[in-house]
Amino acid sequence: MQTVVIGLQWGDEGKGKIIDYLVKAAGYHTVVRYQGGPNAGHTVRYNGSDLVLRQLPTGVLTCGVKSVMGNGMVIDLGVLVEEKNELGVRGFTLDASRLVISDRAHVILPSHLEMDVWEEKSRTVGTTKKGIGPAYMTKAQRTGVRMCDFASSDLRSKIDLLVERNKFFAGIDLDPAEIFDKQSHWYEIVKSYIADTGHLLRQEIKSGSSVLFESAQGTMLDNDHGTYPYTTSSSPTVGGVMIGTGVPLRHHKVVGIAKAYTTRVGEGPFPTEMKGADGALLRDLGQEFGSVTRRPRRCGWFDAFQVRYAVDVNGADEIILTKLDILSNQQKIWVGTGYMLNGVALESMPASASVLDQVSVSYKKFDGWTTPISRVRKFKDFPDNAKKYVDALERMLDVHISHVSVGKETEEIVTR
Ligand code: IMP
Repeated sequence: MQTVVIGLQWGDEGKGKIIDYLVKAAGYHTVVRYQGGPNAGHTVRYNGSDLVLRQLPTGVLTCGVKSVMGNGMVIDLGVLVEEKNELGVRGFTLDASRLVISDRAHVILPSHLEMDVWEEKSRTVGTTKKGIGPAYMTKAQRTGVRMCDFASSDLRSKIDLLVERNKFFAGIDLDPAEIFDKQSHWYEIVKSYIADTGHLLRQEIKSGSSVLFESAQGTMLDNDHGTYPYTTSSSPTVGGVMIGTGVPLRHHKVVGIAKAYTTRVGEGPFPTEMKGADGALLRDLGQEFGSVTRRPRRCGWFDAFQVRYAVDVNGADEIILTKLDILSNQQKIWVGTGYMLNGVALESMPASASVLDQVSVSYKKFDGWTTPISRVRKFKDFPDNAKKYVDALERMLDVHISHVSVGKETEEIVTR
């Protein structure tokens, strides 16, 4: 069994909780992160409090599950050591049988972090400033540092080159010797986890292991299929799996995660955004603040036109709807059903962010419900209007909504 879990909106759909639930309920052997880095923040409940995983796959929280950080990731070694220590304090031990890091993954260095801040001064994407874009940039330029480079004698010259380029392009002055020493120190701490993860995963799949591929961010942040240039620099869509792991997907299932409303962090088009007091209310109800940066998330209604696009891009086989409980007590709930441009209904998602900024959205209105739903465990026990809302989304998206999440805790979920 190979399952890919994808975010169908702009990230923050609640993937952490759902992956934790799926790993525990379906018993996957291996969980693999295939793109992104410490820009992600997957929140999972553990012993009654929130635990935020930034680079480590969600599998690290389940005994007996192997977690793999694939070659498509960009990894901040300092953050990784921090995460590993934090988990150690909570009693999770990660030996090399439980965590494996690709020898081909790229490393985020201080030069990337500084460059991210510098780039943001000239073009505002509203990045997380974790060095993601610059790390993927040096990967594409073929000047990046990979995990395997730490075992080679030219590591120092690679760092020198990156520092030199930073100085040339942005006037940023960094000490390459200090970077070399610090990174080498962190590398020594994680060295035992590094391996050829592509080979390992291909072997595992051949021998029948079940693997869950965990995406970070969401489809609308995909650098090719999202709202470019207001995107992240990787491919959170299903296409990113093969590139980011070295595993050819064959008989896989795609599970799309969508929140019952929409949020986005950072700049960029957001057609169903609710500006003003209504958006602020939804933000407070849903506690919509970045789990990594604490930035307030922009909030808006569910956008069926956008999610249908994401379903098509990824070939989603089923959808898990999250945070439906947050919509309780809304008198009316709106769903975006289509985009109009100059009075003409659009058939597909516009490529240009400025065109997307000009579209007007057609909406369908639903009556809300007032009964709390977090304790409900059977779909038939939902208030009628909640059932009508979920059924209507399913019809609009033309994909089965298999589960509805109604709270933060792993068990607060309803199977349909
Ligand atoms: P970057 O990934 O830090 O380069 O940021 C690019 C865009 O993606 C910005 O709008 C970020 O706010 C957004 N972004 C990156 N990671 C996440 C995430 O995990 N959740 C939601 N938005 C994200």
